[in-house]
Amino acid sequence: MQEEQFIPKSYTSSVEKGSFTWSSPSNIALVKYWGKKAQQIPENPSISFTLDNCKTTTTLSFSKKESQDDFSFDVLLDGDKKEGFKPKIETFFKRIEAYLPFLKDYHFKIETSNTFPHSSGIASSASGMSALALCLMSVEKLLVESDASLNVADKSIGNDFFIQKTSFLARLGSGSACRSLEGDLVVWGKHDEIDGSSDLFGVKYPFEVHKNFKNYQDTILLVDKGEKQVSSTVGHNLMHGHSFAQERFKQAHKSMSTLIKVFEDGDLDMFIEIVESEALTLHAMMMTSMPYFILMKPNTLEIINKIWAFRQETNSKVCFTLDAGANVHVLYPESECEQVCEFIKNKLVVFCQKGQYINDKIGFGAKLINN
Ligand code: PMV
Repeated sequence: MQEEQFIPKSYTSSVEKGSFTWSSPSNIALVKYWGKKAQQIPENPSISFTLDNCKTTTTLSFSKKESQDDFSFDVLLDGDKKEGFKPKIETFFKRIEAYLPFLKDYHFKIETSNTFPHSSGIASSASGMSALALCLMSVEKLLVESDASLNVADKSIGNDFFIQKTSFLARLGSGSACRSLEGDLVVWGKHDEIDGSSDLFGVKYPFEVHKNFKNYQDTILLVDKGEKQVSSTVGHNLMHGHSFAQERFKQAHKSMSTLIKVFEDGDLDMFIEIVESEALTLHAMMMTSMPYFILMKPNTLEIINKIWAFRQETNSKVCFTLDAGANVHVLYPESECEQVCEFIKNKLVVFCQKGQYINDKIGFGAKLINN
């Protein structure tokens, strides 16, 4: 599928005003997206668990305006205006204008809130950008359906197309956001063994998944709640001309192939091997780029070592993954909830800033709250 498919046939902005509210979750990558080409096209395929508790709820109110010269919008987080969020949204609007031609016809009020603390080091871009993209797609759907000049065939936007175009738009806001709309596993980026996979949008993982992965748990340990040391835009760009980039991109394809088998036969040891190696490779790429960065903190390493020791002692299948920061996602099967939660409370919480952590698990995607 090509980008052009997402440029709509012309419709009129016949609705004066309205509002939509969506909630959309965050996701945690198992095979990491790190490195992109122009237009947010990923250098390699990635796959993620959609989360359940960590989410953003966004209400988008829109009202017709006189001039169509510029974008016009306000952004509020928990009721407070956030001027600092505007440049990112302005860039997003510029990137998606060709696909949503109504954007300059309306003034938008974007009211957003997260279930997790804003400066917790948990990326809000995936949940935030996907929630906004969903609200914008709801506006497009409403305009198409209200346009009396369109014939019946052109008047409806089917559910599959709605999700696909929303994912396409969300990708242009923040790459990983395109993996947040559905659950429980989402693939983004072309991979030979996954029919329908695309660099343009995320797709639901199309194969059977072994029961071992049902309700998989993710406890997020907040090791460092500070602002990100390296923005993901800067981070992705460090892969241009990186000495190990081409090998890394090949490795991601291989990791995906191995995970397909793992999800089929439920091999948790192999799951651990791939997921931990992917996390450490992401950080290795940062450590070996120019300029170089260390995004892990001493407590990140303490936690990793404690997890490895616990596995050795107990034969548990608990493992870790990391984002581009110091926080640790502790992943484990539902059947181990009790013993791993005890272990986290007794041995790992001491390494979290102010003892803070978030219990989450695999989720099933975004929800329309009202319109
Ligand atoms: O969506 P971005 O541009 O913030 O990039 C996210 C990159 C990682 O979180 C490190 C990996 C991933 O695949 O989510």
